[in-house]
Amino acid sequence: MKTTLITGCAGFIGSHLTDFLLKKKHKIIGIDNLLTGDERNLHHLKDNKDFKFIKHDVCKNLEIDYDIDYILHFASTASPTDYLKYPIRTLQIGSIGTEQILKLALKKNATVLVASTSEVYGDPLEHPQKETYFGNVNPIGPRGVYDEAKRYLEAITMAYHSKMNLDCKIVRIFNTYGPRMRVGDGRAIPNFINQIINNNDITIYGDGSQTRSFCYIDDTIKGIYKVLKSNYNLPINIGNPDEYSINELVNILKKLIPNSCNTIYFDLPENDPKVRKPNISLAKKIIKWEPNYNLIDGLNSTINYFLKLDK
Ligand SMILES: NC(=O)c1ccc[n+]([C@@H]2O[C@H](COP(=O)([O-])OP(=O)(O)OC[C@H]3O[C@@H](n4cnc5c(N)ncnc54)[C@H](O)[C@@H]3O)[C@@H](O)[C@H]2O)c1
Repeated sequence: MKTTLITGCAGFIGSHLTDFLLKKKHKIIGIDNLLTGDERNLHHLKDNKDFKFIKHDVCKNLEIDYDIDYILHFASTASPTDYLKYPIRTLQIGSIGTEQILKLALKKNATVLVASTSEVYGDPLEHPQKETYFGNVNPIGPRGVYDEAKRYLEAITMAYHSKMNLDCKIVRIFNTYGPRMRVGDGRAIPNFINQIINNNDITIYGDGSQTRSFCYIDDTIKGIYKVLKSNYNLPINIGNPDEYSINELVNILKKLIPNSCNTIYFDLPENDPKVRKPNISLAKKIIKWEPNYNLIDGLNSTINYFLKLDK
């Protein structure tokens, strides 16, 4: 039985990873300081003897007595609302927090997988984005705190790999969505769904022509697991290459949740990416992965989650 430590286990992706790996018979040590996570995401595991939760800030020293086979480092603010609210903590979790985790992995002789992001490509001048693209990031713009924290996370992970021989994996995750996203986390899909469910105005930033590619959480989790089990140490894009404009997304949601909401437009935030679409040929080649869920099925399952949520 493998023992796996997951940071950010009370968050959206971290809690799904926890469930997935418990089903694969891993013992899980979950770490989270609940900055943006929600204990309700772990409530169903309270009597599970293979799951242990430790409330802890990953930027602080962490002593773990157990042997650990894998570490999945997912703790971080992730939505623009969160990282604009916590700019310094965002930089710290990407830098100090990541180094704590890499040191722990060395000490335990564990394989470590770190969560990077498509935001390392910034407002991209190459489209779709391949892993070889260096990105177009404004380090001192408002989004720089997140983008640069993740670029640093990649840099220090590679340095531990090349200097200390640490077995590392890096996933560049593109927009992922599904149940357990937070109502107020500001990301497009939970935002729009909850605005439509509650018959509020739908708020679009920019003219809605900017594009995003949305990957359903189950597909993302399978991709992450395949990267973890691979022998590949360089970054791999995990995302769904089906690209939609924000206006198209809103129109689809309005058909799935019939209602009479108005749409109102605000200015596009500074440095907001105009396009976003992963090139996943590397994932197809190295880990034989590609997403299966279509957008309508994924959206329906997410809508059902929010409809049933006890707010
Ligand atoms: N959701 C996406 O579309 C997406 C895309 C790209 C990358 N990612 C990355 O995946 C990871 C998880 O994202 P998410 O969408 O699940 O976000 P989330 O906010 O739901 O989860 C992040 C978790 O990290 C915890 N956390 C934050 N700072 C911490 C600290 N100092 N110590 C311990 N715990 C801490 C939070 O409390 C939260 O539970 C993040 O690293 C994010 O950058 C997510």
